[in-house]
Amino acid sequence: MKNILIIGATGQIGSELTMKLRQEYPGGNVVAGYIKGAEPKGALAESGPSEEVDITNAQQIADAVDKYKVDTIYNLAALLSATAEAKPQLAWKIGVGGLFNTLEVAREKNCAVFTPSSIGSFGKGTPKDRTPQDTIQRPDTIYGVTKVTGEMLSDYYTRRFGVDTRSVRFPGLISYVAPPGGGTTDYAVDIYYSAVKGETFQCPLNPGTFMDMMYMPDALRAAIEIMEANPDRLIHRNSFNVTSMSFDPEIIYKKICEYVPDFKMEYKHDPLRQAIADSWPNSLDDTCAREEWDWKPEYDLDSMTVDMLKQLRLKLGVEK
Ligand code: SER
Repeated sequence: MKNILIIGATGQIGSELTMKLRQEYPGGNVVAGYIKGAEPKGALAESGPSEEVDITNAQQIADAVDKYKVDTIYNLAALLSATAEAKPQLAWKIGVGGLFNTLEVAREKNCAVFTPSSIGSFGKGTPKDRTPQDTIQRPDTIYGVTKVTGEMLSDYYTRRFGVDTRSVRFPGLISYVAPPGGGTTDYAVDIYYSAVKGETFQCPLNPGTFMDMMYMPDALRAAIEIMEANPDRLIHRNSFNVTSMSFDPEIIYKKICEYVPDFKMEYKHDPLRQAIADSWPNSLDDTCAREEWDWKPEYDLDSMTVDMLKQLRLKLGVEK
């Protein structure tokens, strides 16, 4: 049995991960931690306990851990890359201050901690293709700075205090459930909405801008499998490269056109997102995750596209 606290449970990853964890650990407490104004609704509210847990408030984290005898914390609180550039101080407060609060509670109360890192933890000096697990991490964005700091701080808490910290570097995550917001990879979600609604998609990134991506079911599995992995096999901890696919706007557009032949896309340059995307890798090498905890994605661009279009048509009530 596991008792789990998810901080940021109503966000892009949290709203799906919380439901999946409740299925995986039916005998345990799987607590949806939310901030004021982002309370859980519907099935998320009804399927298990929830608590107000603002990651910048260490006491709230500690109280929730005590109340539900939490042994594992999923720390999903973050501002995505473009939003973080608009609010760098807040991005640091949540990404690093919040992680520090979480790690301190974990140290005192003996919890394991998962904190996602990102392709955003790399920068212009990083090898762009098949980016290795262990390489240069000098990001240009505040989002990336918080992620690299988070990786190092988490490893420090494991080395120094024996806290069980683990993490993956997520690529752009694609899902039909909770929309992302303020990220650089969001276009790869938005494009499916346009295709299903019959709208022309305004693509913010130039053709030739390659980034790693992953369908949400694979991302949820990665987050659970890394926390279940045999620690004796883990050479790395914070944080593992994981990926499912790498594409640019032209490739995803052409793939969608195979199923929506009259779909139209035009380019509408967003200089901030383009600069961020240009500083990130084209494709990651996730060999270490495959070797150390048997990571393997299930979805590729084609199977993801088929499922996204099907699920979004159902969600939006659009006939084929
Ligand atoms: N999806 C994130 C972003 O675009 C990257 O991890 O900001």
